[in-house]
Amino acid sequence: MRRLVAETTLQPRQLVLPMFVADGLAEPREIGSMPGVYQHTLDSLRKAAGEAVTAGVGGLMLFGVPRPEDKDATGSLASDPDGILNRGLRALAEEVGDATVVMADTCLDEFTDHGHCGVLAADGSVDNDATLERYVEMALAQAEAGADLLGTSGMMDGQVGAIRAGLDAAGRIDTGILAYSAKYASAFYGPFREAVGSSLQGDRRTYQQDPANRREAIRELELDLAEGADIVMVKPAMSYLDILREVADRSIVPVAAYQISGEYAMITAAAERGWIDRRGAILESLVGIRRAGADLVLTYWATEASHWLS
Ligand code: PBG
Repeated sequence: MRRLVAETTLQPRQLVLPMFVADGLAEPREIGSMPGVYQHTLDSLRKAAGEAVTAGVGGLMLFGVPRPEDKDATGSLASDPDGILNRGLRALAEEVGDATVVMADTCLDEFTDHGHCGVLAADGSVDNDATLERYVEMALAQAEAGADLLGTSGMMDGQVGAIRAGLDAAGRIDTGILAYSAKYASAFYGPFREAVGSSLQGDRRTYQQDPANRREAIRELELDLAEGADIVMVKPAMSYLDILREVADRSIVPVAAYQISGEYAMITAAAERGWIDRRGAILESLVGIRRAGADLVLTYWATEASHWLS
């Protein structure tokens, strides 16, 4: 009876697996703050991607982790075809073909030595418009490497429009944009810093949104739609379900939500201590995010949950 009348579905095709590929690793390395999640070598990345595809996931979102000594002020390696992220994207595209959607993180923070999502002005603040030029260079390299969808996670003003124009001018009309429209300055990104070896000093409050605010999420949504976003995202997920609902009610394109590193770490830690039922908590969290309005959910449990669901 419950199955007959359930309002919300949860299916593998609605789940997207975020993955990390690191330069200079001999073996995959488990991320201490995210037990069960790995920084991959190119080989182990292919293997994990193949497993995700077999499980039926809808997409893969790739982050690159360069060697610390390869980072610089402008994040040069982000747009270099031989940078680790672009090498990883080529490996993924070759491994999975059309079986799933290959997505790339189009942001500079993993590649800059200061750890910010953009390039800095003389006074140390992030230079929005100079950063847009770098994002376009990065987007073109990622499209060339085989990414189907570009995830604009840097929260610079005008990033979707600049990247769309740059892609179109280069003939990349089929490369889509997954816009991180409402991305909040969150403490729950903490474990991700270790995942990507981030060197960030300070915080991102000058370009990510204030958790206290709802209306600016709607403003960001409308700007991103006008600039050509193909999918819009709310991030984090669980502390922002009201924002997700409102974005879903207003959006004319599919809506994604990102269940981020801190959300993964909380459930993992509580389950390790025997305080909550792991599988039950994971599935409930994913159904809740879907119920709030997400068409697709980025989650580090994408492969495992897909096995449970099929
Ligand atoms: C920025 C980026 C971040 C995450 C995804 N993209 C970190 C940040 O904005 O500080 C966080 C994802 C997670 O915590 O799982 N490129």
